[in-house]
Amino acid sequence: MLASSRTVLRQAASKQFTVKAGARSVSAWSQVPQGPPAILGITEAFKADSNSEKINLGVGAYRDDKGKPFVLPSVKQAEKKIVESNLDKEYAGITGVPAFTKAALQLAYGPDSAPIKEDRVVITQSISGTGALRIGGAFLERFYPGAKTIYIPNPSWANHNAVFKDSGLKVEKYRYYNKDTIGLDFEGMLADLKSIPKGSIVLLHACAHNPTGVDPTEDQWRQIANAVKEGEHFPFFDMAYQGFASGNTDKDAFALRHFIKEGLRPVLAQSFAKNMGLYGERVGAFSVVCESAEEKKRVDSQIKILVRPLYSNPPVHGARIASEILNDPALNKQWLGEVKDMADRIITMRALLKENLEKLGSKHDWSHITSQIGMFAYTGLKPEQMEALAKEHSVYATKDGRISVAGITSGNVKRLAESIYKVTG
Ligand SMILES: Cc1ncc(COP(=O)(O)O)c(C=O)c1O
Repeated sequence: MLASSRTVLRQAASKQFTVKAGARSVSAWSQVPQGPPAILGITEAFKADSNSEKINLGVGAYRDDKGKPFVLPSVKQAEKKIVESNLDKEYAGITGVPAFTKAALQLAYGPDSAPIKEDRVVITQSISGTGALRIGGAFLERFYPGAKTIYIPNPSWANHNAVFKDSGLKVEKYRYYNKDTIGLDFEGMLADLKSIPKGSIVLLHACAHNPTGVDPTEDQWRQIANAVKEGEHFPFFDMAYQGFASGNTDKDAFALRHFIKEGLRPVLAQSFAKNMGLYGERVGAFSVVCESAEEKKRVDSQIKILVRPLYSNPPVHGARIASEILNDPALNKQWLGEVKDMADRIITMRALLKENLEKLGSKHDWSHITSQIGMFAYTGLKPEQMEALAKEHSVYATKDGRISVAGITSGNVKRLAESIYKVTG
């Protein structure tokens, strides 16, 4: 909420109390305005639909080919091992489970990463990716020496704006998506990175951009890194889908690692919700690449000061699972295979959807469905077409034309293509 509207509410509330002081019937919350419905509206509409062939493409979580939530076999094994080892439930330290955070660093930055070898990366466990972004926002708000404005892509994950605003940062946008090509507006993005004030904070989706599924190529990332360097901007990577985009955790970390090779020192939000399917366990990490080991010590002390009043210390169970998977060589190998299987299923569903649309004789160019990457596809469908999909075909997704490819199965892809064909003509 904006500070100004907060002030108005406070004034209204105090007025109410002065007028009716002592009146027991006045609720402290009588001035609280009704907020807009959350994204979950789609799930509610889906649930209320009695069509047995209804399709939900609104959920941001992986589904198997039967459309069911999927617990990774590696997660089940890790969990079994943890339960059998009869660990206690004591608190973790403020920054979490060290075996987990150490392995999370290796996964993101790579085993040969110079900043890790030089012991100059601060890391703290976080309440999944959202919590990592929030700690990052709060840290930058408190210590970033430049203007406290963060530039996020247009469009971006819907929560970025709220997370950074609530952290006290000003949020602005840079061009990212070209609705005419249903692809990256690379020229617009570079032009914006070159024209925004020097030293701006820039949020970058490391891979599998949400909501568009449109990622820069490796060559484009090189040019983006150059533009960030030239503008003396500060890069903030959000990596919520490592491994989930291409099926390869190293490939998906290209942008982050390239920036570091170029001498940039980003901050990073990691999530293990998607790539380990640990959604509700809330496993994530926030890290800061520092200039030296000495600087690391100071930053680490401040991250602790920041986290302590937020939630004291993070939950241990999910972090223990992730730690097992990352540190046990056999489990790790198995997990990498499972991540690839999930990514491959998504890639196959993209291809099948495109193929089915073409078979139906659709005159539209659907190549963006397969060139985009990750859980989401930006179909290019207009709000009224999305509405028709829901009303006439029981296919539910967000009005901006984004579909969760994870909701497509070999059983529903044909009907989905027919529905899209009918609303797009
Ligand atoms: C781009 C992006 N960042 C961060 C997140 C945070 O997810 P979580 O808090 O579940 O890790 C998501 C989840 O959908 C996302 O899409």
